[in-house]
Amino acid sequence: MKILVIGGTGTIGKKIVSHFSANDEVLVGGRSSKDFPVDIADSATIEELFSKTGKVDAIICAAGEAKWALFNDLSEEDYYIGLRSKLMGQVNLVRIGRHHLNPNGSITLTTGILADDPVEKTASAAMVNGGIHSFVQAVALELENGIRLNVVASGVVADAYAKYESYFPGHPVIPMDKMMLGYVRSVKGKGTGQIIRIYE
Ligand SMILES: NC(=O)c1ccc[n+]([C@@H]2O[C@H](COP(=O)([O-])OP(=O)(O)OC[C@H]3O[C@@H](n4cnc5c(N)ncnc54)[C@H](OP(=O)(O)O)[C@@H]3O)[C@@H](O)[C@H]2O)c1
Repeated sequence: MKILVIGGTGTIGKKIVSHFSANDEVLVGGRSSKDFPVDIADSATIEELFSKTGKVDAIICAAGEAKWALFNDLSEEDYYIGLRSKLMGQVNLVRIGRHHLNPNGSITLTTGILADDPVEKTASAAMVNGGIHSFVQAVALELENGIRLNVVASGVVADAYAKYESYFPGHPVIPMDKMMLGYVRSVKGKGTGQIIRIYE
């Protein structure tokens, strides 16, 4: 399979890239990528990305930002960070990317546990995750050419625990191999419209 991983240099993306690289051709996209630069918040760069990759069999997005702050401190503009990047960035990736997939290809997005189990300071991040879950379920009903769409939602992953520990008191830490199962299931399995939750 030819698999495009956007955010492939990040905590989650690195694991995805190293796993699939064993048996598949993996292309790594991101804002600082030399070969496949893309900012998902700018849909023109998504179009440019696919002119460089050609057709692929799977697109995985492990990228997207949202502002974390107390509800009292979040301005309207703060919400637009998550709406433009993590939400519309991934929506535009599906909108544009489906035309650059081989038949029966797949798209896998990334959200997280905040959609169902938010913590303090995540009014924006949780909202965006929930929106993506609804988007995936609705769009999967209409995709053509056997194209599948899923989203992986995991809890805090082991490699990021030191950074996020204080935000998630008492939450289970998800081992990287366990998180990876969600992406394998989405890319290599047959399911579509699934929210693949890995919370424990
Ligand atoms: N860490 C966790 O425990 C966890 C758990 C569940 C869900 N998530 C979600 O998973 C996603 C990835 O998390 P992470 O911890 O792996 O983040 P990370 O370590 O900060 O990595 C983010 C990756 O995405 C790329 N990226 C960021 N913004 C981008 C943009 N606008 N366009 C294209 N590429 C972009 C970055 O590369 P460049 O800077 O080169 O663009 C980098 O490769 C996030 O949406 C996060 O909310 C994380």
